[in-house]
Amino acid sequence: MVDRPRNPIDLPTTYEQWLAAEQIPVTHGFHVPDLNAVEVAPWPRKGALGARIALDGTAQTNDAYVCEIPPRGEVTPQRHLFEELIYVLRGRGATTVWNDGPKQSFEWHEGSLFSVPLNIWHQHFNLQGDEPVRYIAVTNAPFVMNLFHDLDFVFNNGYVFQSRFRGEEDYFSGKANFYPDRVLETNFVADVPSFPLMDWQARGAGGKNVKFELANNTMAAHVSEFPVGTYKKAHRHGPGAHVIIIGGKGYSLLWPEGQQRRRVDWQVGSMFVPPERWFHQHFNSGATPARYLALRWGSRKFKLPSMWDEDKLEIDMRAGGDQIEYEDEDPQIRRLFEEECRRSGAELRMPPVARRARA
Ligand SMILES: [Fe+2]
Repeated sequence: MVDRPRNPIDLPTTYEQWLAAEQIPVTHGFHVPDLNAVEVAPWPRKGALGARIALDGTAQTNDAYVCEIPPRGEVTPQRHLFEELIYVLRGRGATTVWNDGPKQSFEWHEGSLFSVPLNIWHQHFNLQGDEPVRYIAVTNAPFVMNLFHDLDFVFNNGYVFQSRFRGEEDYFSGKANFYPDRVLETNFVADVPSFPLMDWQARGAGGKNVKFELANNTMAAHVSEFPVGTYKKAHRHGPGAHVIIIGGKGYSLLWPEGQQRRRVDWQVGSMFVPPERWFHQHFNSGATPARYLALRWGSRKFKLPSMWDEDKLEIDMRAGGDQIEYEDEDPQIRRLFEEECRRSGAELRMPPVARRARA
């Protein structure tokens, strides 16, 4: 009998093969109702507990994982050739980073955001004796793994990216450079839920926003907040924006152009990823301002136009952009929101709008 070689053109992607080999729980689908409730299991690679989250809207350009570190525990030191943005969901701890030079450490707590620079050795510690630490990370591991399809290259690579990190002592101090268009460059944000935001008229709803450039990554982040009884304008963009609710309660509508809308109800801890070029629109029908953190492609310093076209995000569809103005939206959208506010007791704060005739 002749041994038939396995047909290489029918194999799963390198990332999918890696996911299966890690032997940890994997969440697929459209959204995660509560990141704090995601079931975790021992993850040998981390020496802690974890679960990977590969939502449909990422189109396998990026992904997420939850890691839980037991009281007084630590993860195994790691380095890897994919970017990683970390948001702390629960607890208090510290991270140590190093290259060839001396080690340096910084502390964080629930609500902190940071990024370990690309391919830097790092180790996270739980500084509490009684509670686990839980964090969510968004990585571009799928993209990197599928591109090079060599896991040894991705996890055991000695290259030092001097352009990202040169052992600067104040790297994680929270110091920031401010640029126009609400862009802030920093490598550590101590408390995202209370971080002061700037007015952002273009997306409507009396919203506020700040965009973060972290660790010279091609991935980036932003935080947005909008008041009770308001909703934002619909817009669309590339894949992989992980929207994590960090304040308030409400829902979002998501739809591919001309097709049925899908609804996601959210509260603190919910996460969803609008699929590529799907319109999405966020509604605050709760009792407090709604705030979310988006971990996504779209660095302004290191642009990747195939993933994220920043220039069209705030431009009216009629002018060739990717935003639907209130005047052009389906009146059912407003009616549903009015209904939801009545149901929840939230005061409707959207000014009336006259629908524009189709151009
Ligand atoms: Fe978006």
